[in-house]
Amino acid sequence: MGKEFYEKIVRNNKEWVADKLDKDPEYFKRLEHNQEPEILWIGCADSRVPANEIIGANPGDVFVHRNIANMVVHTDMNMLSVLDYAVNVLKVRQIIVCGHYGCGGVKAAMGNAHIGLIDNWIRHIKDVYRFHNNELDAIQDEQKKYDRFVELNIIEQVYDLAKTSIVQNAWEKKQSLSIHGWVYGVGSGVIKDLGVNFSSDADLSDVYQLEFK
Ligand code: CO
Repeated sequence: MGKEFYEKIVRNNKEWVADKLDKDPEYFKRLEHNQEPEILWIGCADSRVPANEIIGANPGDVFVHRNIANMVVHTDMNMLSVLDYAVNVLKVRQIIVCGHYGCGGVKAAMGNAHIGLIDNWIRHIKDVYRFHNNELDAIQDEQKKYDRFVELNIIEQVYDLAKTSIVQNAWEKKQSLSIHGWVYGVGSGVIKDLGVNFSSDADLSDVYQLEFK
């Protein structure tokens, strides 16, 4: 099975290339020398949430960063490098944090099991629980609590993006940049906008607002 699947995906690529060229002989030539994506996508690494596919995007449309539970950890060099490049070089106009119901990372954060090194990554999600423990502890139904925790984690990552010096600096320079929080239903395919849309630092607590001289 494993080998068959491996051979199949190699074959799939050849067929995909042939199909693209058949429809448009210049397809890859146009993409060869630059990219101008409008969107930076920060999503979960979950195999069921493929960024481009669920929004009908094509190669060149979306700059993508994915990790376990779509986290924006401001000491994560990988995330910061992607964010800096997307905002300051590619000049994306939208950043979308897309999490999903049924997220294993969020599930792990609700529990207490020691898993391994990943405990230290999951800890950032536990912090989100602590910020919202009044709301979450009041939800009796475990599934509803889990779903809401997924949503709150996404919302918190939107805030965390707005707190970064990279995003605030772009706003200071009057660069058009807005941040959205989305949740994806792996069982429905449907995306829901959570309604946290930042396009300036005005909605951040004072303590996070940076002054640029
Ligand atoms: Co996930």
